[in-house]
Amino acid sequence: MSNAQQENLPEAVPGYGGTVRAMHWIGALVVIAAWCVGISLDSFPRGPERTAVMGLHSTIGLVVFSLAVLRILWRIATPAPVQEGPVWLMAVARAGHTALYVLTLALPATGLLARWAKSGSASLIGGLSIPAPFPLPETKLFGEIHVTIANALAALVAVHVVAALFHHFVLRDATLRRMAPGRAR
Ligand code: HEM
Ligand code: HEM
Repeated sequence: MSNAQQENLPEAVPGYGGTVRAMHWIGALVVIAAWCVGISLDSFPRGPERTAVMGLHSTIGLVVFSLAVLRILWRIATPAPVQEGPVWLMAVARAGHTALYVLTLALPATGLLARWAKSGSASLIGGLSIPAPFPLPETKLFGEIHVTIANALAALVAVHVVAALFHHFVLRDATLRRMAPGRAR
């Protein structure tokens, strides 16, 4: 019997490193914040108030983008802990995680393109703005793509969360504990 069983503690599992876990949970909170501000945009009448909320949305979105880039670089440098399970299930999980990363990058990128195509620059908070680095035709296409990707990401995150809860409460395996906040195991 292992020490953990004797002491009635959960078995130590090979988890993600502390940095990956911190980036996962901070990243998740910031994506959700960007999404909440995004869906509230339409409830503000056009004018200075809406411009300010759009600036907040764009700023949070760019934080998401920067964190996602850091996270992907870190993740490439530090491989995920080995997960036991059928090969097909591991392939599905990997494809799902890759899709989460891709959509998390594509969403702020299309948001930025939408702002640039609409007004030639993206206003942020604190009077900052990012001018378009190249000319873009005035089109609503990027905004439409942005909204479609936002909905796709929301659906994928919902599946991701249900899968994590299914692992934890039904399969009772260590998947959620591997990513749980706290000390690296
Ligand atoms: C992960 C980051 C982001 C998330 C989760 C996100 C999410 C959203 C959501 C949910 C909407 C409302 C969609 C609807 O009307 O149903 C929206 C709209 C919008 N977002 Fe973002 N967004 C992000 C990043 C950005 C960035 C970085 C910018 C610009 C710099 C931006 C610009 C816009 C614009 C212009 C709209 C209005 C689009 C339209 O109605 O045509 N977004 N976003
Ligand atoms: C808020 C509820 C969330 C829960 C409960 C959750 C849970 C988890 C768990 C348990 C893992 C590890 C899976 C494994 O080891 O196979 C994981 C990985 C991951 N999660 Fe989440 N997550 C949440 C939100 C999010 C959000 C909002 C995003 C991004 C939009 C996200 C993106 C990812 C990615 C990309 C991975 C793969 C990590 C890697 O191997 O590089 N998660 N999540």
